[in-house]
Amino acid sequence: MSDWVNRRSWLKDLPWPASENAVSPLDTAEYELKAFFAARTDTAACQLVPDLKEGYELTKTQNGFLVRGGKTGVLYGAYALIRALSSFSPVPEGVQQPYYPLRMLDCWDNMDGTVERGYAGRSLWFEGGSFSYEPARIRQLGRMLSSVGINVLCLNNVNVHQPAQRLLDDLLEDTARFAALLRPFGVRLMVSVDFSQPLQQGLGTADPLDEEVQRWWADTAKRVWDRIPDLAGFLVKADSEHRPGPNTYGRTHAQGANMLARAIAPYGGFLVWRAFVYNCMQDWRDTKTDRPRAAYDLYKPLDGAFDGNVILQVKHGPYDFQVREPLSPLLLGMNSTALALEVQLAQEYTGQQIDLYAMPPMWREVFSQMGKERVRAVAAVSNLGRDGCWTGHPFAAVNLFAYGLFAWNPDSDPAAVIRQWARLSYALPKEQETRLSDMLLRSRSVYEKYTATLGLCWMITPNTHYGPNPYGYEFQAWGTYIRADRNAVGIDRTAQGTGYTDQYPSALRDLYASLDTCPDGLLLFFHRLPYDYRMRDGRTLIQRIYDDHFEGCAQAEEMANALSGLSLPAPDREEALKRMERQIKNAREWRDVVNTFFYRYTGVPDAHGRTIYP
Ligand code: GCU
Repeated sequence: MSDWVNRRSWLKDLPWPASENAVSPLDTAEYELKAFFAARTDTAACQLVPDLKEGYELTKTQNGFLVRGGKTGVLYGAYALIRALSSFSPVPEGVQQPYYPLRMLDCWDNMDGTVERGYAGRSLWFEGGSFSYEPARIRQLGRMLSSVGINVLCLNNVNVHQPAQRLLDDLLEDTARFAALLRPFGVRLMVSVDFSQPLQQGLGTADPLDEEVQRWWADTAKRVWDRIPDLAGFLVKADSEHRPGPNTYGRTHAQGANMLARAIAPYGGFLVWRAFVYNCMQDWRDTKTDRPRAAYDLYKPLDGAFDGNVILQVKHGPYDFQVREPLSPLLLGMNSTALALEVQLAQEYTGQQIDLYAMPPMWREVFSQMGKERVRAVAAVSNLGRDGCWTGHPFAAVNLFAYGLFAWNPDSDPAAVIRQWARLSYALPKEQETRLSDMLLRSRSVYEKYTATLGLCWMITPNTHYGPNPYGYEFQAWGTYIRADRNAVGIDRTAQGTGYTDQYPSALRDLYASLDTCPDGLLLFFHRLPYDYRMRDGRTLIQRIYDDHFEGCAQAEEMANALSGLSLPAPDREEALKRMERQIKNAREWRDVVNTFFYRYTGVPDAHGRTIYP
């Protein structure tokens, strides 16, 4: 069988295959426990307790364990037990319930088999315009997701290209078959839809207030839910980056979203509406328009206007998944609207599954600031593809694993989650396991130093988003500027500047607006400063920029040394080493390009005499 069977990340030690005959999560739970305990002297049984819903309780019995859980909870309980026993971690005590009811994986898969921003090969289920997959691999996918509590898979790109509309039309039977494969793992499908679909079907309009349009969506919903009764809902990217939306008809986003929400409400469907809306045709000469303001400016006035089954899906930062951004003020500002937090496992801006970048420390920051009760769902852009190891870089699997655990419990400890992943994935000697875990734990800060220090994001190669180009986006229409000149760099987003900080509750507004308290990591995101500005530690701004680039690159080189001493299984070791070589090359390029860029503006040499290419 293909490579992926032997390289199924943290499920490596689970017997294969997951049952082909299972129809419900309970069946799967029984099968998994039987297979796992076959090699042990103790036993486990499961018991359905419908009231526990997605929750479970694990108890010790005379000769093993009892897993009590609701319809899907019983399976989560089985996996939690297996995870704990295989990683020699304590078995969780008491009733465990997920924090967020919807824990989504958004896949940007196109029906031609490509994956937008995909770094792990082609789509796992689309090829040549329709479905094409190995059922066994899709079951394994269901198992991977379910084993960390992910319960919704949105199967097609938010940028809905024409053929994807067939998923709910002449390919509906195939969509239903695909849904059935994932059902025994408690994973429900969601579908991205195109707002202008009725127009494309010849109705002459997609105006949400048009009765025929409303009827068209209601009929579509009926047809779809008749076939897939547990479909989780629709995901919509509207009026964003040239996608169609209600603005075309002079309607608000609440009118657009509610129209769709009403069509699917009878079936319990959720309408997930993305808040990633900004002016992507900005004139770079315009210094008044400030892209990070856009979502709050648009949606805050609509707070309270959305129907109960609408969920507004907000990216964690106000830009677009950069290495470091402040929390989106929208996540703190909507009091009467259900929200979903969106993160990106696909490493579009964070090393593209070549450079190491483990996300748990970042999520800890996000969840701890978020005021978690306002947010009802979490969604992550998938990092999966048809590659043997599923995630391009074998270590990138840590991000999917950790996402599931954080979505279940946002108070999770990043170090513990990373270590558990390392232990489940590789049976390394203790000292090596520590080295791998530490490397992953530090990887984001290393990457940040050489690519986006002090909140200076967007110095990337346009379109591909890998590799340095400090002015790559400076004269473009995307609203992504660093505004460096020979005197200063950064953007003033305080009340004296673009006023973005005023979108935050007062404590955060004051924190960011004051140079005394603004965290270094976001300094140039919030402020425009001269190069001789004195940082709190006494260094000048320009020296700090140089230092971070030298340091980040040196730390990447240290990681390469640490990696070469790990006794990983051969294919993962080879892959990781090969990618590390590219990371080092990338880090050196970043160091030299960015340092030279600022040296040419300032003429200030490095205080320590290190090489900067003039
Ligand atoms: C980014 C990304 C696009 C994607 C968009 C989105 O801009 O580069 O490929 O479509 O985000 O989240 O919709």
